[in-house]
Amino acid sequence: MLNLDLDGKVGIITGATGGLGAPIAKTLAEQGVTTVLVGRRADALDAVAKKIGKRALAWSCDVTNESDIAKLVSGIEKKFGRVDILVNCAGINIRKSAVDLSSDDWRAVMETNLTGPFLLSKAVLPGMLKQRFGRIVNIASIFSFVTWERRAAYSASKGGLLQLTKTLALEVVTQGVTVNAICPGVFKTPMNEQLLRDAAHQDFLKSIPMRRMGEPEELSGLVAYLCAPQAAYITGAAFIVDGGWTAR
Ligand SMILES: NC(=O)c1ccc[n+]([C@@H]2O[C@H](COP(=O)([O-])OP(=O)(O)OC[C@H]3O[C@@H](n4cnc5c(N)ncnc54)[C@H](OP(=O)(O)O)[C@@H]3O)[C@@H](O)[C@H]2O)c1
Repeated sequence: MLNLDLDGKVGIITGATGGLGAPIAKTLAEQGVTTVLVGRRADALDAVAKKIGKRALAWSCDVTNESDIAKLVSGIEKKFGRVDILVNCAGINIRKSAVDLSSDDWRAVMETNLTGPFLLSKAVLPGMLKQRFGRIVNIASIFSFVTWERRAAYSASKGGLLQLTKTLALEVVTQGVTVNAICPGVFKTPMNEQLLRDAAHQDFLKSIPMRRMGEPEELSGLVAYLCAPQAAYITGAAFIVDGGWTAR
């Protein structure tokens, strides 16, 4: 039996109240990881923490706010003595054509999806390097590679996140820390509710070769594996999980 050796590790999962983040946090907790659930809404975090149980701790933090991040990481290091895992899963999407996208829309997407993971990685890396163990998993997107109309800011942010992943991976490659990206296709989460409602997006949904959206639970096993000591030789890599979408 494959034992992932995650028991006793400490992990920060951003976007932990979201459709993908909550199952990722649950799976890591089931593997013995003390999971710090990060998002902006305290009540939503408490609800997820309650469902996961004793291995979850809710921590309100805006990933675009550098002082929130400093408090989060120093607080966790003080409480648990270490951060072993960072899963950057917080993200937003504003679907508008580029001419309708305001500069505030652009900045909100870039700050949440790209600057946030950069700031969080910067904050956890010194501790990970000191202990010579660390796992950073960035939840990027198929739009790190390809794109679609009305995705200018989102695709730019996710393309950037993949390049950030590779650069960070190389910077720490000999020091026990790995940095990888998972690139989901279309998953059944609140982020995609608009896709299901809006006729303009039906062509996009029909283009999935597997003819269905991904179920949120179909991602978390891969996250857990990448966080495990057994995945030590995997770094700077991107894993597409998209029901065949980018294989076309
Ligand atoms: N769903 C998909 O099909 C899909 C496909 C490809 C990639 N992805 C990526 O996967 C990740 C998760 O997506 P999802 O579908 O789970 O989204 P979701 O259900 O909309 O959840 C988004 C999460 O991000 C958190 N968040 C947003 N802005 C934040 C901020 N400034 N600071 C802290 N937390 C913030 C939200 O919590 P608060 O609102 O409480 O802050 C929530 O927990 C995203 O990065 C997304 O781009 C999703």
